[in-house]
Amino acid sequence: MKKYLINGGNRLHGEISVQGSKNSAVAILIACIITDGEILLTNLPDISDVTNCLKILTYYGCDVQYQDKNTVRIKTGYQENRPLPEELAKTMRASSYLLGALLSRFGSCRLPESGGCNFGKRPIDFHINALKALGAYENTENDTLTAHNGLTAGNIFFPAKTVGGTVNAIIAAAKARGTTVIHNAAREPHIKDLASFLNSCGAEIFGAGSDTVIINGKRKLHGCKYKIDYDMIEAGTYMLAALASNGKICCKNTPVSEMQSFFSVLKKLGAVITAKNNSICVSGKNLRPIETVTAPYPGFPTDLQPQLCTLLGIVKGNSTVKETIFENRFLYAKELLKAGFVYDIDGRLMRITGIQRYRSAEFTATDLRGGAALAIAALNADGKSSLKNVEYIERGYSQFAKKLASVGADIREE
Ligand code: EPU
Repeated sequence: MKKYLINGGNRLHGEISVQGSKNSAVAILIACIITDGEILLTNLPDISDVTNCLKILTYYGCDVQYQDKNTVRIKTGYQENRPLPEELAKTMRASSYLLGALLSRFGSCRLPESGGCNFGKRPIDFHINALKALGAYENTENDTLTAHNGLTAGNIFFPAKTVGGTVNAIIAAAKARGTTVIHNAAREPHIKDLASFLNSCGAEIFGAGSDTVIINGKRKLHGCKYKIDYDMIEAGTYMLAALASNGKICCKNTPVSEMQSFFSVLKKLGAVITAKNNSICVSGKNLRPIETVTAPYPGFPTDLQPQLCTLLGIVKGNSTVKETIFENRFLYAKELLKAGFVYDIDGRLMRITGIQRYRSAEFTATDLRGGAALAIAALNADGKSSLKNVEYIERGYSQFAKKLASVGADIREE
């Protein structure tokens, strides 16, 4: 097991290049299963969730060749249907996208027990109902979904916003016969990225990024060359780390238009945001406490909530953050107690009282974003900290320790 050793107290200063989006990459990679031909994906993040998606593609018979660490060539068209081994399914949440992909490709699939971070219950009932609206039949005895004569278009109504459910519905409908309409679709940038990728393969998907997505099913999809969008969560994480260190970080290739709610929160905090060439720079002193709420896109992303709360833990005064997406995304807070974090939780509301500075401690990452949040605390703390279970962090951040070291952090892997 790998860990990070962090000697806190350095101001972060410099430029970081933002990686390709994790959540786009995992959706696009699984969607390759429904295409025929050769796909060249560029700007892929070098993270273990991507490596695991590529293992899944290889398992289903795709030929996967890395051109360099961010570019991969995938030859599809030689796939065979078989149940996904549990150890691969459990590596990440995105393995649930195989429902839509395998149903579209082969007309049947076994429900995978997908993994992902533990934030309480993470059901897939909305995904399954969407696929049933496209003609899939659920057999609960052997946990399979089947569409004997292929999927047919339908009307899908999501009762609440679901990113994964929307991804599954788009993948399944891209080749379903007729025109599908998805109502109350998730609007996250990676939904738009997935649709642009599929459209580059010949799909006809309209309205992705809005509440209503309309899809004309196509009989066949071909290969393409596609560049994955940049990762707003990675950019936001390093910006919050810079603020917690009293430093200044510039992020090259920041997807600015996707980060409006994040920048509004930074403004409320009193942070200074400037643009320099192709970079967005963030710095700030004497930050102010705030009240904020996570919400589906375009709201403040839940994936930046742990990092934001960690910063608020050292902002003088009382802040509150309400988590509206997941029932339990505050696991990291108990670990942060070791560093002196002062908080209490009332249902989904966290109240935070800012202290001056964190104490060094021996931390254990609880999940991907919670792990990044603990690293932010350790970078602020006076003295030597260690952070175990960093495999969680490396699921979603490429070269996390190296990138931080490149802007002045004293951090190394052991
Ligand atoms: N939900 C249901 N039933 C469903 C699906 C979702 O009740 O069938 C509930 C969930 O339990 C949750 C809410 O709806 O309370 C939203 O879940 P959603 O489906 O939107 O989340 P997800 O697809 O499981 C993706 C990202 C997460 C990100 C969320 C919210 C990927 C691979 N994962 O998860 O990313 O937090 O959307 O934006 O895209 C991360 O990157 O750290 C991460 C966890």
